[in-house]
Amino acid sequence: MDAPDLKAAPADEALGVAATMIADTQAGALPLPVVASFFDEPTSTASYVVHDPVTRKCAIIDSVLDYDAAAGRLSHTSADVIVAYVEQHGLSAEWLLETHAHADHLSAAPYLQDRLGGKLAIGREIITVQKVFGTIFNEGADFARDGSQFDQLFDDGDTFQIGSLTATALHVPGHTPADLAYVIGDAVFTGDTLFMPDYGTARADFPGGDASQLYRSIRRLMALPDTTRLFLCHDYKAPGRDTFAWETTVDAERTGNVHVHEGVSEDAFVKMRTERDATLDMPKLILPSVQVNIRGGYLPEPESNGTRYLKVPLDVL
Ligand SMILES: [Fe+2]
Repeated sequence: MDAPDLKAAPADEALGVAATMIADTQAGALPLPVVASFFDEPTSTASYVVHDPVTRKCAIIDSVLDYDAAAGRLSHTSADVIVAYVEQHGLSAEWLLETHAHADHLSAAPYLQDRLGGKLAIGREIITVQKVFGTIFNEGADFARDGSQFDQLFDDGDTFQIGSLTATALHVPGHTPADLAYVIGDAVFTGDTLFMPDYGTARADFPGGDASQLYRSIRRLMALPDTTRLFLCHDYKAPGRDTFAWETTVDAERTGNVHVHEGVSEDAFVKMRTERDATLDMPKLILPSVQVNIRGGYLPEPESNGTRYLKVPLDVL
């Protein structure tokens, strides 16, 4: 029997499909997706509406439900801006896509689904996240840990349509086990992996996070064509930059990302990421956000008095 050829890395079929789609889109053989960005300063989150110019079908990615933590009050100002955009542009919502269960904002996906329709989707590994946080929050048997709060769970390489646009889900774990990047035409919605080149990368210290995995996920994204448009999940400005930014390219990240540019080894990245994460406070809204987002953005059931409650586990995170 022949010895295995260790140099022959297994082909990354899903990445190949994505790279071909990006190249075909940029060559004009496929429709170019139209991307609108909505930046929420209180949570530094970028939400997106991406639409097919041919059919006017759209996907809404990583929407924000406004939450006043001091008062425990929810509102829909940010989500209503997206509703107005969709209506004004004559779009029809086909998908509500989450890149992961966010720890810094509550998702407005169920509210938007109610207003605009569309199917709610996330990565299949949300089941792992539900199990981890189901234990942390001591959720009862009524909290399903099978992803059934979502209409669709994507695996790596799954493809789907937004009108005549084709989209591919890439599993990019590390920040959380469930992170997906959505490749739509020539645009990639990266979730929490890369941030702007001058700011670096997402943290990897939440329960289930893994800096080595994050490095490999980022390297995978960096193997896409140089001119691929990247749309990031967050921006926090950067030293010397006084405006928010959330769009860049593979080339800019590969050559210039301060944490993980070409030439930075996995060991060096993991050391840097681990040391940096140890200095970071937990996001202000992690406890309410995760409790709601592991439910697909749905709120916990009301108690006997009709009021819904969120829990605060003490000395756990
Ligand atoms: Fe996140």
